[in-house]
Amino acid sequence: MNKEPTTPGMALESQEKHASGSGTIPVLAVRNLTKIYLVGQTEVRALRGVSLDVYRNEFVAIMGASGSGKSTFMNLIGCLDQPTSGEYKLLGTSVSHMTAKELATIRNKYLGFVFQGFHLLPRATALNNIALPLLYSGVPKEERDRRAPKALEMVGLGTRLNHTPSQLSGGQQQRVAIARALVNNPLLLLADEPTGNLDSRTSVEIMTLLQDLNRQGLTIVLVTHEHDIAAYAMRRVTFRDGRIVSDEPIATSRSVEVNSSPVQSEEIRDVEPQFGASAEETAILTTDRMIPQPAKPLVSKETGQRPVTAPLQKEPLRAASPANSSQQPSQVHRVKISVLPLLILLALLVTLLRVALRKFFNHCT
Ligand SMILES: Nc1ncnc2c1ncn2[C@@H]1O[C@H](COP(=O)(O)OP(=O)(O)OP(=O)(O)O)[C@@H](O)[C@H]1O
Ligand SMILES: [Mg+2]
Repeated sequence: MNKEPTTPGMALESQEKHASGSGTIPVLAVRNLTKIYLVGQTEVRALRGVSLDVYRNEFVAIMGASGSGKSTFMNLIGCLDQPTSGEYKLLGTSVSHMTAKELATIRNKYLGFVFQGFHLLPRATALNNIALPLLYSGVPKEERDRRAPKALEMVGLGTRLNHTPSQLSGGQQQRVAIARALVNNPLLLLADEPTGNLDSRTSVEIMTLLQDLNRQGLTIVLVTHEHDIAAYAMRRVTFRDGRIVSDEPIATSRSVEVNSSPVQSEEIRDVEPQFGASAEETAILTTDRMIPQPAKPLVSKETGQRPVTAPLQKEPLRAASPANSSQQPSQVHRVKISVLPLLILLALLVTLLRVALRKFFNHCT
């Protein structure tokens, strides 16, 4: 007889096992979600029946005018608030009617958040900011000390471990926030206008990082006002007046060269996380997914042709390895080294020949 899961975590873990094998369960599925805020006597209908499925390894951009309900929706799918009505399932497990304590467990174990305003502890170092979610989830100190620096390395900040937020640029602070969101190996990363406080160059860096993380298997839902930013995603969902009015694949996903990404900085080349379990993976939704894995073959560049409800990736996407690109320069280098002694020998021979010829002609005359 099958034993019923007794905690939300257990329920999700058993679904995760199922999801890894079958590929049919969306990471998140919402149906007719409504949210009514009461302001004094006035009802504000922020969401008016939203239904959406997001599958593993999708990168979804939520767009829409100010006040259209994007953040309200993110708060609900992030288990930060509860809907007025409707259903929300995370990996097939209904979370819409869980208690505040259960929702806190779900948030800590399965969700990562990135906000416009970074929300870092101002006096804590980057390392301590990142170790915090691990502390909350009861990860022992030794494990925290191992995983927190790795998360920072992963976002290209391996040399800024002991900097406090005020000693970091805006883009670096956001990268710390992303590392903090990733340190518990979330099922889903939720980012509400993560580039809203950043200049365009830094925004590109952050979006490149998110795109790389998505290529490594992380499922992302991101809110943005900017089409340029949404272009990094694979699917665009547009809200208007608390409803979804369009849901379409982004045909020309803004694909950056993986090699130009900050996530490919030399500090993190050997840190390759795996977001989302594969069928073979035995540690289900545990803390092991960021342990470096042996390198796997290159993943081809995304085409943007993925269906709106992308099927589960049996093999999690991985960061493109720089191995191929780095091989050619090193071969060229080796060729240069072997040609050099030959050239010197040739020069010596020519000189000797010239001296011998000069002596010969002198002798003749
Ligand atoms: N806590 C709240 N109490 C009352 N009304 C709220 C609350 N939060 C949001 N609203 C209202 O709900 C509606 C949707 O707000 P929401 O913050 O979701 O919009 P948004 O699409 O994220 O907008 P923006 O792009 O400006 O961030 C708005 O009319 C807003 O005034
Ligand atoms: Mg908002």
